[in-house]
Amino acid sequence: MAVITCIDDLKRLHKRRTPKMFYDYAESGSYTEQTFRENTTDFQKIRLRQKVAVDMEGRSTATKMIGRDVAMPVALAPVGLTGMQRADGEIKAARAAEKAGIPFTLSTMSICSIEDVAAHTTDPFWFQLYVMKDEDFVDATLERAKKAGCSALVLTLDLQILGQRHKDLKNGLTAPPKLTLPVLLDLATKWQWGFEMLQTKRRFFGNIVGHAKGVSDASSLGSWTAEQFDPKLDWSKIARIRDQWGGKLILKGILDEDDARLARDFGADAMIVSNHGGRQLDGALSAIRMLPKIREAVGPEMEIFMDSGIRSGQDVLKALALGANSTFIGRAFIHGLGAMGEQGVATALEIIRKELDITMALCGEKNVHDLGRHNVLLPTGFL
Ligand code: FNR
Repeated sequence: MAVITCIDDLKRLHKRRTPKMFYDYAESGSYTEQTFRENTTDFQKIRLRQKVAVDMEGRSTATKMIGRDVAMPVALAPVGLTGMQRADGEIKAARAAEKAGIPFTLSTMSICSIEDVAAHTTDPFWFQLYVMKDEDFVDATLERAKKAGCSALVLTLDLQILGQRHKDLKNGLTAPPKLTLPVLLDLATKWQWGFEMLQTKRRFFGNIVGHAKGVSDASSLGSWTAEQFDPKLDWSKIARIRDQWGGKLILKGILDEDDARLARDFGADAMIVSNHGGRQLDGALSAIRMLPKIREAVGPEMEIFMDSGIRSGQDVLKALALGANSTFIGRAFIHGLGAMGEQGVATALEIIRKELDITMALCGEKNVHDLGRHNVLLPTGFL
């Protein structure tokens, strides 16, 4: 591919260069994938209002996320198995985020450990926690994140039971992959992926393997995680984790007005309006559709981030226009990583930054803080 101009180009390269099992893992949703699809198609239904003869010099995409200066209203979302898209993927993505001046969030289910990422970056990153039944494991993990200098905890609330993704079952997803004949045939054309993977010195699932009781290698991890996601997660458990953490807290996976009010009253520093990229409750409304309802429910003061479906700077602008203070991206950066490693993530971020900047100019806006409902036209029945 000669010139890469959009996230879709990176997605095509990602598909070509990464084992099918891991590409499918990223590019899928649960059950019928209705919510996964609508996360992106609903963005396309939102139209932008063009403005002319407005001074557009001196524009800025800079803002703050929970008090931290960011170059644009975008952070990298926690993505499990990032290090299977490319060897050392979490380190590569974190470094690209650092260079772009935006936060990186490390998933509990990452391949590289908290310490691996800390050793290869200088900016503090954010850590995402899945609440497990084993409180000793949770507390020890929080201590490790604090020690590594993580400056915020992203607590994911929408995955206490795993949404079923058909492709993962059909592909027999494991990390590392089992070297079956179909996998070997697939790898034959993706040798660079395999070559880089063989070079890595990281221990797989470094946040869990060797830290959780009874998990000494990646093969014993599957059964541990399946039985460890805590189905009893409630606000009292969230409060216990908040007290144990003691730092900035972002609640992820809010998609309902009542839950949003509870999250606000609980005193979270921010919430992420998200349906986990359509990977959990299939049939839920898209996150961009729920966003204005949630903004209205919690009022103007609460810091709201939004993810699920963002594939361009135009989408970022639309999310801000409908009430988000900032956004997170998942697949948009994963496509960059799978396509071209660290350089690919950097390319994805630069594409989005430039799209946001140019679209702001054509909408007659100089500052991300001024974006609002006046910038968009919504189809009947959207709200
Ligand atoms: C995710 N997501 C996710 N979220 C989380 O809190 N912890 C995790 O480990 C993961 N893992 C994960 C893996 C993959 C492959 C994807 C695509 C997503 C959800 C993620 O943080 C975010 O909510 C979505 O990716 C946002 O949707 P888009 O931007 O991918 O459409």
